[in-house]
Amino acid sequence: MYSEKVMDHFNNPRNVGEIENASGVGTVGNAKCGDIMRMYLDIDENQIIRDCKFKTFGCGAAVATSSMATELVKGKTIYEALKITNKAVMEALDGLPPVKVHCSLLAEEAIHAALWDYAEKHNIKIEGLEKPVNDISEKEEAPEEEY
Ligand code: FES
Repeated sequence: MYSEKVMDHFNNPRNVGEIENASGVGTVGNAKCGDIMRMYLDIDENQIIRDCKFKTFGCGAAVATSSMATELVKGKTIYEALKITNKAVMEALDGLPPVKVHCSLLAEEAIHAALWDYAEKHNIKIEGLEKPVNDISEKEEAPEEEY
């Protein structure tokens, strides 16, 4: 049911933890399943993400997608990170079962929420970044994310 990569990131999640004095922190949840994900970003003066850590109180797919998402955003600029979709995270994990697609949405939204927090703290506007939702189940009804 799960790819080897998903199992690997579930069993050995990368970048678990917190970043003290993080540049941006984003927390999102899914009211339907009750899972929560928090993402911490450390962003340098050139807007490059130096470090990224996460905490996920959720299912195995949520752990694996947040782990992979942290790996993908590290070293990227904030604009590159903004373009990392849940689809890209799933592709990097060699796919997820359809019933678990929403879990990857949590990872994408957590990155956006952390970027939003960073922008607010630094009084900047990140072009293309929309105000994140706290509860991603509101977004799930959107027809687009078929995988
Ligand atoms: Fe809730 Fe996976 S079942 S995030």
